[in-house]
Amino acid sequence: MLRRVMLLGLLCAGSSLAAGPDPVAGQYLFRAAGCENCHTDREHGGAWLAGGRELLTPLGVFYSPNITPDPDTGIGRWREADFLRAMRHGRGPDGRHYYPSFPYAAYTRLSDADLRALWAYLRSVPPVRQANRPHELPWYLKYRALLAGWKLLYFKPGPYTPEPGKGASWNRGAYLVQAAGHCGECHTPRNRLGGFRIGLYLAGDKAGAEGGVVPNITPDPKTGIGRWSRGELIDYLKTGMRPDGDFAGGLMAEVIDNGLKHLSQQDLEAIATYLQSVPPVEHAVRKPKPKPTRDEFGY
Ligand code: HEC
Ligand code: HEC
Repeated sequence: MLRRVMLLGLLCAGSSLAAGPDPVAGQYLFRAAGCENCHTDREHGGAWLAGGRELLTPLGVFYSPNITPDPDTGIGRWREADFLRAMRHGRGPDGRHYYPSFPYAAYTRLSDADLRALWAYLRSVPPVRQANRPHELPWYLKYRALLAGWKLLYFKPGPYTPEPGKGASWNRGAYLVQAAGHCGECHTPRNRLGGFRIGLYLAGDKAGAEGGVVPNITPDPKTGIGRWSRGELIDYLKTGMRPDGDFAGGLMAEVIDNGLKHLSQQDLEAIATYLQSVPPVEHAVRKPKPKPTRDEFGY
């Protein structure tokens, strides 16, 4: 039953238009980065950003914390520097390490300006009083100091640095995918220690977030999205409609509804430019479609 697995790292997709701590730019980034998806317990009608959403992972069950400005139960007493440290280094104001179920391994790539804008936006949301729920983890994982080891192996802090010679749109796309959108947190399979598997960047995961199949989104024509045109890819990111007429389901529907569909056309184009340029990886993750039954055919 623990196949209802792993939201190990849904992150957020972001944008870096912010010139200064500007809540409007912050909201754009907040959506691109999908913060709402994990920090709101929609299934149980939970208050917006007050946490409590259950994140099922192979390691145990995490409950997202309250990130509203409530001073007692949220992050209302934090200073900007606390927030920057949490996002950039995965550490709390008291120094404790965060679990990578909070996708700071991607958010660390956000620019300072974007992090500041995000902070300005979070300060502006309504405070909600709701206590955090403790994670349900095996005893040996409760010891947060162990996370220092994980970080040494798999975490490189620091903002995205543009690749010279790749063009502005490509770099913007890479930023949105790697830093804000944290697409790899779901689309790249992990090893047993929770590190990304080498050579399978964005190549899909058979038992990914919440135990479902997360598709291969590299340009491989057989097992990825290599046959999608640029226009089809952009439409999918904007509306969730696949070229075959099906709609995105599950976690990707949330990523689109609360996030990608709010991005500018230019940013969606940038994401497509970048995605179509990553190395194609042949890696089949889709369950073969069962043959339709006679009933479904209406015989
Ligand atoms: C994939 C789910 C997920 C997403 C997406 C996500 N978070 Fe979180 N976040 C978590 C979890 C789980 C924790 C708790 C980690 C821990 O206890 O070590 C957390 C912790 C935090 C904390 C620390 C709170 C505290 O009380 O110590 C902050 C701040 C935070 N997230 C902000 C954000 C922001 C801002 C975004 C969007 C840019 C975001 N999160 C996106 C899952 C997520
Ligand atoms: C929280 C996990 C999660 C995150 C984060 C995420 N995805 Fe997805 N994605 C999924 C899942 C699950 C599906 C399959 C949806 C379905 O079954 O309809 C999917 C489907 C897709 C597809 C369609 C592939 C196909 O063959 O149908 C594309 C394209 C895609 N995602 C791109 C992205 C991009 C780009 C990002 C980052 C901006 C992203 N995803 C972030 C989980 C995620």
